Amino acid sequence: MPPKFLRSGVLLRLLVLAALIALSLYVFEKRNVVSLPQKPSRLLPKEFYRQISPLTYKYLLNQPDLCNNRNPFLVLMIPVSMRDSDSRTAIRKTWGQPNLVPHVDIARVFFVGKPGQHDPQLEEDFKKEGMTHGDIVQMDFLDTYHNLTIKTMMIMNWVANFCRSADYAMKIDADIFLNVPYLVHYLQTKPKHNYITGSVITDGRPRRDPNSKWHLSEELYPDNAFPPYVSGAGYVFSVDLAKKISMASKFVRPIPLEDVYVGLCLHFLGIQPEFAWTLMPYRNLFEVYRLHYDRCTFAKRIIVTGFTPKNLMDIWTDFKSAATSCYFSSLVMH
Ligand SMILES: *[C@@H]1O[C@H](CO)[C@@H](O)[C@H](O)[C@H]1NC(C)=O
Repeated sequence: MPPKFLRSGVLLRLLVLAALIALSLYVFEKRNVVSLPQKPSRLLPKEFYRQISPLTYKYLLNQPDLCNNRNPFLVLMIPVSMRDSDSRTAIRKTWGQPNLVPHVDIARVFFVGKPGQHDPQLEEDFKKEGMTHGDIVQMDFLDTYHNLTIKTMMIMNWVANFCRSADYAMKIDADIFLNVPYLVHYLQTKPKHNYITGSVITDGRPRRDPNSKWHLSEELYPDNAFPPYVSGAGYVFSVDLAKKISMASKFVRPIPLEDVYVGLCLHFLGIQPEFAWTLMPYRNLFEVYRLHYDRCTFAKRIIVTGFTPKNLMDIWTDFKSAATSCYFSSLVMH
């Protein structure tokens, strides 16, 4: 005998209702016509490409041998400014430390531009820090918010040249919490080519308000929508993409929004970023909102945003016990 709700026709009514909702969503979507950029077929004029071309800038500090004689499973690439030594220290002591996951080689590199003001003491300390840790790469472009696209392309170019032996690379901001064991576990079953994941944004649009931090003029970007892109807070990709994205940048006009720019390069390459979520319960593994710290909540995310160096250090000791006390006992950290 079927359950009562089937007999009474409630299920049928629910199905009709669901179909109506789906139809109205479809009609609503159709009304919002979005225009995505055409795939460019010609190389950029020199004056546009020069801004992001790796040939325009020199290395002031490089780690060309970082990936020699090893093939890291993952290379973590963290854009920071010269002044962010507290962030670098916190990252080295928390999610950026080597040997966090037994038998999995993970490399770490910080990417720095040139500071706006000359500060001999700061530069001296920075140089020492670079020598001590061997994990800083610096290029001679001005390190500003609007130059982050240059920095991201420098990161792509660096991996493509000096760390092709890695399986995956991750661009991650310094103010992020990263659950390395979970990420490593997650990537075990993922493709090693043409793969990129993170917090995927599918409904991004340019802001035309000149006072917005994300302002984009119609001259620079005439279309009214962005192709899908991954939030710049933290995204992971198979290392082959670094070279492909660098190549695509010869065709795609630079805009000062670095994550959207990577999305435009992916659009040019015909590559879709992949969502990283779990169902039941629904969860975005790349959490681009702040979350109240709880060991087992964080154990089930790959990234969480909004961390000062002190916050990171404060939760780390407690978070380490998540491996044994939450649910993935096989992923034990040292
Ligand atoms: C970006 O860097 C270049 C090269 O250092 C510099 O000339 C330019 O002023 C910078 N742009 C911004 C917006 O900071």
